[in-house]
Amino acid sequence: MVALSCMVAPMAVALLAIWTHIGVSASPPGPVIKCTSGNSNCTVTNGYGSFPDWTTCQVASVAYPANESELLVVVSNASMNKQKMKAVSVYSHSIPKLSCPGGPSGAGLAISTMRLNHVVSVDSTLMRMTVESGITLRALIDAAAQIDLAVPPSPYWLGVTLGGLISTGSHGSSLFGKGSAVHEYVVGMRLVVPSNESINGYYARIVDLGEDDPDLLAAKVSLGVLGVISQVTLQLQPMFKRSITNRVLADTAFESTIATFGATTEFGDLTWYPSQARVVYRDDVRVPISTVGNGENDFTGFRSQLSLLIVATRGIEEVFEATQHSYGKCVQSRVQVTTLLETGMGLKNSPRSILEFTGYPVIGNHSKMQAAGSCLNGGDDGLFTACGWDPRIQGLFFQQMTFSIPLTNVTNFFTDVKELRDMYPTALCGTELYSGFLMRFVRNSTAYLGKVDDSLDIDITYYRSRTPATPRLNEDVLEEIEQMALFKYNGLPHWGKNRNIGFLGARAKYGSKGDMFVAAMARYDPDGLFSSEWTDGILGLRGATVVIESKGCALDGLCVCSLDEHCAPDEGYYCQPGVVYTEARVCRRINVS
Ligand SMILES: Cc1cc2nc3c(=O)[nH]c(=O)nc-3n(C[C@H](O)[C@H](O)[C@H](O)COP(=O)(O)OP(=O)(O)OC[C@H]3O[C@@H](n4cnc5c(N)ncnc54)[C@H](O)[C@@H]3O)c2cc1C
Ligand SMILES: *[C@@H]1O[C@H](CO)[C@@H](O)[C@H](O)[C@H]1NC(C)=O
Ligand SMILES: *[C@@H]1O[C@H](CO)[C@@H](O)[C@H](O)[C@H]1NC(C)=O
Ligand SMILES: *[C@@H]1O[C@H](CO)[C@@H](O)[C@H](O)[C@H]1NC(C)=O
Ligand SMILES: *[C@@H]1O[C@H](CO)[C@@H](O)[C@H](O)[C@H]1NC(C)=O
Ligand SMILES: *[C@@H]1O[C@H](CO)[C@@H](O)[C@H](O)[C@H]1NC(C)=O
Ligand SMILES: *[C@@H]1O[C@H](CO)[C@@H](O)[C@H](O)[C@H]1NC(C)=O
Repeated sequence: MVALSCMVAPMAVALLAIWTHIGVSASPPGPVIKCTSGNSNCTVTNGYGSFPDWTTCQVASVAYPANESELLVVVSNASMNKQKMKAVSVYSHSIPKLSCPGGPSGAGLAISTMRLNHVVSVDSTLMRMTVESGITLRALIDAAAQIDLAVPPSPYWLGVTLGGLISTGSHGSSLFGKGSAVHEYVVGMRLVVPSNESINGYYARIVDLGEDDPDLLAAKVSLGVLGVISQVTLQLQPMFKRSITNRVLADTAFESTIATFGATTEFGDLTWYPSQARVVYRDDVRVPISTVGNGENDFTGFRSQLSLLIVATRGIEEVFEATQHSYGKCVQSRVQVTTLLETGMGLKNSPRSILEFTGYPVIGNHSKMQAAGSCLNGGDDGLFTACGWDPRIQGLFFQQMTFSIPLTNVTNFFTDVKELRDMYPTALCGTELYSGFLMRFVRNSTAYLGKVDDSLDIDITYYRSRTPATPRLNEDVLEEIEQMALFKYNGLPHWGKNRNIGFLGARAKYGSKGDMFVAAMARYDPDGLFSSEWTDGILGLRGATVVIESKGCALDGLCVCSLDEHCAPDEGYYCQPGVVYTEARVCRRINVS
């Protein structure tokens, strides 16, 4: 143990290079759809190269429609043949198995939205813009900024597409106005949906939803099960600037400040590093466009990284896992987080000078501050550098749990988590290697699958083994937090993140809103051609379930353990009750020396 701790320091120094590396070029993410012959016999995966259940998704073929008429033909053709299909975005960034068509393996159709990436029209008077659904967040924000308009809130990562991000209810952080979910700003949509009879020669039709059409409430957050979104009209705002200051405080009683912070800070978020007992409050507010500042958010974690260093970092993490060395992760994370904070987390006051970050506040156009992703840019450098999680290199590989807890329950939730943290002070260090507990505000929604209450969305990212059914260091503690959030505090899962069990009982949490969504599905896609076993499982339809019971299933979040064999008894991991939330059932390592 001691020898290993001594090795950590020099390795940690090497790590600094990763976090401060300034990428000039990068290898953009590789394709998520790969075919053996032309556009047929293909596999579909997500941006991480792996679904939570480890399966490979095979499809018969892929189509690349370049406009709505082509899309209509593609959907019609598949619909006539009763073929299952799915829209797949260019980088497909959702973790769950959302981009895989249903039905028998190898029979479905992938419809890539990669070429549906144009601006269709702009109404400058109303400040509305209509774009095709496959446009990336980067291109969307840039196109709006060109005409001095701002896309109000958004996810923090530029690599997602508009169609994909609204389909999973993705968001930034805000309780102001309609809140932070992009779908709240959707004022019109066009979808191509299947038809089981011919309409003008097509077995598909175009649905044009106006602002007041009740079906827009189903279509805004649709998990891709209604059909393919062709175009989206967004309500934009005049460009403004944002002023950001990261404030680091001790975590004493932070849980009782959360709601007030959200109510007073338009774009504020918080990051808790539980083992370091620190909280970072991001004071992030709107300021007039006339304010001085040309700042930019080039978040360090979304910059291109030297592949060699990512592999080395992952190697260190694997050593700590293999040697059950929690404290090693604590040392690693303390160095990493301290460096991150000292370099402004990638915020730049003067993007074009050598000294990029000179101190707070960093002020810049909203379009440059709300999201980041410079690892998407530039030409291919043959994987010398890449986004940290690029599956073509053996770099970062992780799982995420992301749930929204009603604001009224947040203080109690963190009180429980702190009790766990105090019992196991090093157990959560691993999460700090991946931004700790990131907390963002999301408002309740009229969209059927949007948030039920004004909530705090909490993202926790952590190590995933590359070998199925492998126990993780301190997994019992994270599993207890996961079950506590989902079952004790009624957390809603983020549709685009989480392991399978994150979605257990999800449908019931939406009450009658869930029923209205399912009713819309039946009208838009009566044969369920856009549904899969996965979406049926999360929506509780056709007897499908998200649980996959097997040996070691709880280790991968495919089940909640009820038997020891759902854990890894041979390696000392047994199914045990939670210690704070005793209804939880977690895989805990029992020392039997
Ligand atoms: C690095 C990173 C950072 C992230 N940051 C955030 C964040 O800050 N906030 C947040 O909320 N989320 C975040 N996410 C999650 C992400 O926003 C969601 O997973 C989002 O759904 C991914 O969008 P995508 O375009 O990659 O869609 P995909 O993952 O490809 O698709 C998601 C679903 O939408 C469907 N779909 C896609 N396009 C269409 C279409 N045109 N018509 C119909 N259905 C369609 C797909 O079939 C699929 O079911 C992040 C993810 C990553 C990898
Ligand atoms: C389809 O692809 C798989 C590999 O993904 C390959 O083994 C198989 O031979 C291919 N089948 C055809 C008909 O090309
Ligand atoms: C769509 O693209 C096809 C070419 O594939 C073209 O013939 C057609 O005019 C286009 N339709 C529209 C509406 O742009
Ligand atoms: C229509 O489907 C058939 C077989 O299912 C396929 O061979 C053909 O290429 C498809 N055409 C289009 C335009 O998708
Ligand atoms: C900031 O936005 C304003 C208004 O849209 C624009 O004129 C200016 O060029 C932008 N500055 C930068 C650095 O993008
Ligand atoms: C969640 O909040 C509601 C409303 O304040 C309260 O009734 C309920 O008891 C809370 N649940 C928990 C587990 O704290
Ligand atoms: C959202 O919550 C507010 C109170 O914060 C309430 O007035 C409103 O009716 C709610 N809206 C929905 C759609 O639930």
